[in-house]
Amino acid sequence: MQIVATAAELPAKRVTNYDLSRRMATSDEWIRQRTGIRERRIAETETTYSLALGVAQQLLAKSHCTAAELDFVLVATMSPDYLTPSEANRLQAALGATNAFALNLNAACAGFVYALDMAAHLLAGQAQCGLVIGSECLSRLVDWDDRATAVLFGDGAAGVLVKADAQPLPPADLRSFGDLELVLQAGAATGRPFFQMNGRAVYQFAIREAPASISRLGQAPCDWYLIHQANARIIEAIGRKLALPPERLPLNLANYGNTSAASIPLLLNDMVTDGRIQRGQRLLLCGFGGGLSVGSLILTY
Ligand code: ACO
Repeated sequence: MQIVATAAELPAKRVTNYDLSRRMATSDEWIRQRTGIRERRIAETETTYSLALGVAQQLLAKSHCTAAELDFVLVATMSPDYLTPSEANRLQAALGATNAFALNLNAACAGFVYALDMAAHLLAGQAQCGLVIGSECLSRLVDWDDRATAVLFGDGAAGVLVKADAQPLPPADLRSFGDLELVLQAGAATGRPFFQMNGRAVYQFAIREAPASISRLGQAPCDWYLIHQANARIIEAIGRKLALPPERLPLNLANYGNTSAASIPLLLNDMVTDGRIQRGQRLLLCGFGGGLSVGSLILTY
């Protein structure tokens, strides 16, 4: 699998920690110290679909690829606009991807890694080319009276256009922990749809299972470790457990907060755009969160 292009699309509205502190009992200092987040984007007119469409259109333009060449459209999201039709189906129609099948996939913050692994398997079979996009409007699932969760999340979308190449399947490690379902819930069909989270338990899960998952992929060093941008302290703890140089675990969550399935491709796109990620480099991607779920994958950019 080769990543041909990356792209991102963000809501226009920026909401700073200071903005939140005028609405709830919190402070810029608390949020920065506990999470590393400074601001996040919040969708006003944008939707999970419209953000994903912006990403898809950019990907096609950057790749010089026609929509008819796409074999699949995968959208990882835990905040779809509708249960059906999926964002992926709507993209397929809007792009004119007449030869593609399309589906949404929900593995919360591990969703992009899961979708990319699925894409790699499709490309190892009959498929030649496809889109993998993470898109979220998590602000819809936030109770703006709950400071413990409201400060953490943001909206956005990003993704990749991938093509088949002669390389073997990227090594991947995906694991699910359904027994921990109550640790993090959102989007209940009946009752309150808002995030309900045991923050401590998610923190402990992340710093236990993300290093374990990364370790199962072996000890060979990678150029960059793109870890789900949930919390700077979680990412630093993962790096310490694996004895990785901190500068190899980049952060961009200060600007976006936790964007769940969009967070890893947003970081990938930022780093491709600013030139830190170069062709030929080995990238480790690791997502973790709701489900609970964890997933890691190594690929050469
Ligand atoms: N502003 C100010 N004070 C706050 C806030 C806030 N926004 N939120 C909580 N507090 C208070 C608490 O009430 C508590 O006060 P008390 O000591 O008087 O009781 C104090 O701050 C400490 O609260 P803790 O919850 O113990 O703080 P902690 O250091 O554990 O940090 C956090 C909380 C940031 C949520 C942390 O546990 C964490 O990052 N957990 C992981 C969360 C996560 O990443 N979730 C997303 C998973 S991804 C997905 O699938 C969507």
